[in-house]
Amino acid sequence: MLLGMSREGKCEGGSAAERLFAGLRSGDARALARAASLVEDRAAEAGELLALCQAAVADGERALRIGITGPPGAGKSTLMNALSREFAGRGQRVGIVAVDPSSAFTGGAILGDRIRLAETDAVYMRSMATRGHLGGLAAATRDVLTVIEASGRDVLLIETTGVGQGEIEVVRLADVVAVVLVPGMGDGVQALKAGVLEIADVYVLNKADREGIDRLEQEMQAMLGLGSATDTRPVLRTVATTGEGVAALAEALENAPRRTMPGLLSGLPLQQTPVLDHLGIAVESIEAALALYGALGVPLLGTETIAQEQVRVAMLGLGLGPRTSRIELLEPTEADSAVGRFLAKRGPGLHHIALRVKDLADVMAQLTSHGVRLVTDEIQTGAGGHRYVFIHPSSANGVLMELVEEARG
Ligand code: CO
Repeated sequence: MLLGMSREGKCEGGSAAERLFAGLRSGDARALARAASLVEDRAAEAGELLALCQAAVADGERALRIGITGPPGAGKSTLMNALSREFAGRGQRVGIVAVDPSSAFTGGAILGDRIRLAETDAVYMRSMATRGHLGGLAAATRDVLTVIEASGRDVLLIETTGVGQGEIEVVRLADVVAVVLVPGMGDGVQALKAGVLEIADVYVLNKADREGIDRLEQEMQAMLGLGSATDTRPVLRTVATTGEGVAALAEALENAPRRTMPGLLSGLPLQQTPVLDHLGIAVESIEAALALYGALGVPLLGTETIAQEQVRVAMLGLGLGPRTSRIELLEPTEADSAVGRFLAKRGPGLHHIALRVKDLADVMAQLTSHGVRLVTDEIQTGAGGHRYVFIHPSSANGVLMELVEEARG
């Protein structure tokens, strides 16, 4: 629906959504604020408005989305203010979205710095309510970001406390994530969800003029195993109130590898992109089918009988390394089995494709929220202990699609 908009009927005035869109594109801050509210509230015009914004973003340069997270009191708002000034000083236009309930910017400051962020033509700010979003906080934030991005922004800053699960999902919308820590937090570091610390691309030690900064850095290095040959994530010191270290931080954020793909609207981290695990081919006889693969030089990794599926399988290896994939030959042990019936009806051939995912439960939740039909609602466990589930062909363009979870450890 969203993408199938008609271009007809665009007259002088246009629809309410079109007028608002034209306003925000021309730099009208009030039109932008109103558009963001409509989208956040899922108002009647929101779908059309969002489609216009998505098309504009897809056509143009994508903004750099920077997630700033860390516990309350870490000085995130002051840091965002300093960063936005830094970027604006370089002639870039900045959008800020704060989903931190304690943020100075949202007005509910408890521990945070009570500095109001200075809004200018180059900097647009918006706070999000953390509750009451149909479809979740992350989805609402993603849509608001799209609207702000469509108003011609080079940089989007997203502030969260990174404490609740919803906020972690928000952090995943960013291309690059900075986790902000300060000396004297005590248990504060432990209070952050482990996932938040891991998601960081850049660590910021703010309030670096305070006592205990060296100890904080040492503790962090020890806890995260930073500084190893394989982990080259920068740890930077800043004093947001004076602007010290902010230029270097801006540079590090710009240079960090982006974790999301351009135009990827789901905001799924690149590291979680599924890969092809195997292709399942139904055969009458594994032994007869193996001749071809022998001739091709594709090695047989093993065969096994899976009683619960009434099938015998042979796995053939394609390539080596972490992105290896396989061919799975499926030979029914009973005529009246899923593969047996497939053979009887359609003859030998491609039976299913299997994608390998990082976190199967996470992916299933995403799929269910998108109305995708699964063959079983429960995760199945295979003979080797691997976890898998099938997506129904009616939800996968007529293809039976298996999702296999990457082995852990
Ligand atoms: Co399979």
